[in-house]
Amino acid sequence: METSHDIFIGNSRSLSEIEDDGVELVVTSPPYPMIEMWDDLFFSLNADIETSLDDGDGRRAFDLMHEELAETWEEVERVLVDGGIACINIGDATRKVDDSFRVYQNHARITEYFDDMGFEPLPDILWRKPANSAAKFMGSGMMPPNAYATLEHEYLLVFRNGKQSREFPSGNDVRYESAYFWEERNEWFSDVWEDVRGTSQELTDADTELRDRSAAYPLEVPYRLINMYSVYGDTVLDPFWGTGTTSLAAMIAARNSVGYELQEKFTEVFDAEVAGVAELAHATVSKRIRDHEEFVERRLEAGKEFKYDAENYDFPVTTKQEKPLQLYTIDGVEQTESGYAVTHSPYNESESIDGDAGGHGQATLGSQFQ
Ligand SMILES: C[S@@+](CC[C@H](N)C(=O)[O-])C[C@H]1O[C@@H](n2cnc3c(N)ncnc32)[C@H](O)[C@@H]1O
Repeated sequence: METSHDIFIGNSRSLSEIEDDGVELVVTSPPYPMIEMWDDLFFSLNADIETSLDDGDGRRAFDLMHEELAETWEEVERVLVDGGIACINIGDATRKVDDSFRVYQNHARITEYFDDMGFEPLPDILWRKPANSAAKFMGSGMMPPNAYATLEHEYLLVFRNGKQSREFPSGNDVRYESAYFWEERNEWFSDVWEDVRGTSQELTDADTELRDRSAAYPLEVPYRLINMYSVYGDTVLDPFWGTGTTSLAAMIAARNSVGYELQEKFTEVFDAEVAGVAELAHATVSKRIRDHEEFVERRLEAGKEFKYDAENYDFPVTTKQEKPLQLYTIDGVEQTESGYAVTHSPYNESESIDGDAGGHGQATLGSQFQ
């Protein structure tokens, strides 16, 4: 199997390289309106945003920032197939403007835009970041009533383009091959993710200062979403690509990807990570298999039985749907005119090396955020 990963440097308000209905999934995290680290970027897109903040008009600045994002959301609607899913990672912002402290609810505003465009909101996922410091309550004091809660979660908003789900012919092989394990389903489709950390990935020698400036999300976030909402052969779009974490996850999950990013410098981080992506894919897939084998062992020890056997692997599975499940690793990566082409081959169980897949001390998706 071969997948392509295209990167375009430019403003995603025009996704001109993508035809109508050209992608099956969108996974992205835009700059967060009213979070100070993104002020300069929004000012460069519309000078009135800076004037509004200078005038102490937080509401207008918030509206204008969302109007900038909305231009991209309209393009997303054009290029996403009917029934395709858009997953938007966004956090709300707390901010004091003109002596008034308040929360700016980015998740609500984005939901409104997608609803207005004809998308159907689906249950979202709260991604809860670790709360490990008493310092987070600094300044809130011990007396009611003027303290406020600390924001420790972000949203993974999920929208379907239109009323109907995507249709597949019955018995569609690719859809069955793309199945995930029953126990993964139970974890991934839970509405609160507490086990995914928001720290940097430290996977490679990639420039960490650049990565911090990009506010990259952990690889586990797009990797799960891609497995949950797309099948092999699909194309995943990230219109706010940053350092390309979505494309890296798409490579590992054996899907195609396309990204748009304003700041060319971020491609340096991506290029450094692509250099190690074959190892990372191998480590990730063997860990998924190992985790499944441990799950099987635990259930058998607890006296439970399995009714089905995987067709491509030497272990049982919980449901009939998992039987044809097939995972892929990466054989090779080549640079192309617009990004990368990746060759994948089916992952064989014998490739799993006792607890240290890849054997190079490479972090895996499941362990890197502890
Ligand atoms: C929150 S970051 C995305 C981080 C990314 N998920 C990652 O893991 O690296 C948002 C990115 O969107 C980019 N951006 C903002 N507005 C854009 C636009 N209109 N078109 C293309 N890229 C844009 C910013 O430069 C920034 O890199």
